[in-house]
Amino acid sequence: MAGKARQHYGRGGPPRKTSSSTAVLYGLLMLSLLIVILLYLGIFSISSSSGSSKDSPKAHDLSFIAHNSVHSGDGDEENKDQWVEVISWEPRAFVFHNFLSKEECEYLISIAKPHMEKSTVVDSETGKSKDSRVRTSSGTFLVRGRDKIVQRIEKRIADFTFLPVEHGEGLQILHYEAGQKYEPHYDYFLDEFNTQNGGQRIATVLMYLSDVEEGGETVFPAAKGNFSSVPWWNELSECGKGGLSVKPKMGDALLFWSMKPDATLDPSSLHGGCPVIKGNKWSSTKWIRIHEYKA
Ligand SMILES: *[C@@H]1O[C@H](CO)[C@@H](O)[C@H](O)[C@H]1NC(C)=O
Repeated sequence: MAGKARQHYGRGGPPRKTSSSTAVLYGLLMLSLLIVILLYLGIFSISSSSGSSKDSPKAHDLSFIAHNSVHSGDGDEENKDQWVEVISWEPRAFVFHNFLSKEECEYLISIAKPHMEKSTVVDSETGKSKDSRVRTSSGTFLVRGRDKIVQRIEKRIADFTFLPVEHGEGLQILHYEAGQKYEPHYDYFLDEFNTQNGGQRIATVLMYLSDVEEGGETVFPAAKGNFSSVPWWNELSECGKGGLSVKPKMGDALLFWSMKPDATLDPSSLHGGCPVIKGNKWSSTKWIRIHEYKA
């Protein structure tokens, strides 16, 4: 009885044991296979994404400019055609297309016109303003927040730059006639005097208030990348071909940074205004400081 039972046990037990341990082994095998597959897929997707990054734009590849644009989709009538174009990463430069309306451009010109004076540059030794042949335009400053329209523009600049209105200097309005220019320079200061109020200039927003028939480009001669790969290369003046250039277009705004993300000065932000060859150039500049600028 016992032997039979043992035999029965012996016969029935071990095979059952074998089948259950086989199931466990089988399960473990499937699990490890699944892990291997998941790992493989993970590695595959990592390697495929790093592989495809070979085909995506490099920071200095200016031929990808057209693909770098972001269209704004808000239904705001005024902002209908607003879109952002990444121009370069060294310097960090962006164009906000149709940033100002035609009416805003005309308004800024009309309030500045009666007060235009010959432009000066900052003397790097004394920190004082001086006349100069490197800057032959005329211009005037508008007090920050002087009226509702200026306030609205200054608020928009803050929204687009993520820098507060209080960090901005008053808008400067500039007028260049045929032959007038501004030789390449930095917007940041190398003297103590000019950084007492607000500290260093971190960024500049340059708004074009008029179209220019020929010339008058904003040129970055120290920009990294192949300048001649920009889509508008053939429309540039000789001066404009001396660097990475932006053609003035009424309502467009150019934002560039004088400081790098690590808060050091960026020498690739060197920029100039090419001589106007045909037509007139009106522009407006907002310089933005690292601290509050007491207006
Ligand atoms: C720069 O870009 C232009 C236009 O795409 C191309 O013809 C030229 O070969 C490029 N130069 C260099 C040095 O890559």
